[in-house]
Amino acid sequence: METIRVHDKVFKEYLSADLIQQRVSELAAQINTDYINKRPLFLAILNGSFMFAADLFRQVSLDAEISFIKIASYKGTRSSGQVMTAIGMDQDLHGREVIVVEDIVDTGKTLHHFLPSLRQQEPASIRIATFLHKPEATNFSVPLDYVGFSIPNKFVVGYGLDYDGLGRNYGALYQLV
Ligand code: IMP
Repeated sequence: METIRVHDKVFKEYLSADLIQQRVSELAAQINTDYINKRPLFLAILNGSFMFAADLFRQVSLDAEISFIKIASYKGTRSSGQVMTAIGMDQDLHGREVIVVEDIVDTGKTLHHFLPSLRQQEPASIRIATFLHKPEATNFSVPLDYVGFSIPNKFVVGYGLDYDGLGRNYGALYQLV
């Protein structure tokens, strides 16, 4: 079993690069079917989703657009609590078929707080594609439409995901030993 060291921690291979590519192809095929005759706008959330977004988008055979955004959080009014806003959103989402692309839905907090600001722009639809989901960790409800892999609640790196900045550059996914 291949292991890697990232900073002070050791990770073992959990999903091979081949298995990941196979699953990404399946998700792309599903999207190609679901959005036939439509022109979806992929909104990939940086940094973690860049690799998944690139591999997925490469296999989309529709007229499709992609934009990359970062999510920043700030404290909203007392009633709305925490608000997540997008940095770099230069697209008008009104009437668009939006597919949000995430690396991982862990607690679900990021998307849960970010989706309302997307909905405010009145897109025709919003679906979420996430490479990974940790169901045991998720305590904010988020509707997930395309899930690459559901994984146990253990820290992972690789395929775009990092541990303190490092580890994004592997084609496979590694789990903390
Ligand atoms: P949330 O808890 O669903 O809001 O997840 C927020 C972000 O935490 C994700 O987009 C990831 O960037 C990061 N994250 C959560 N779990 C992991 C992990 O196991 N490895 C690397 N990053 C993670």
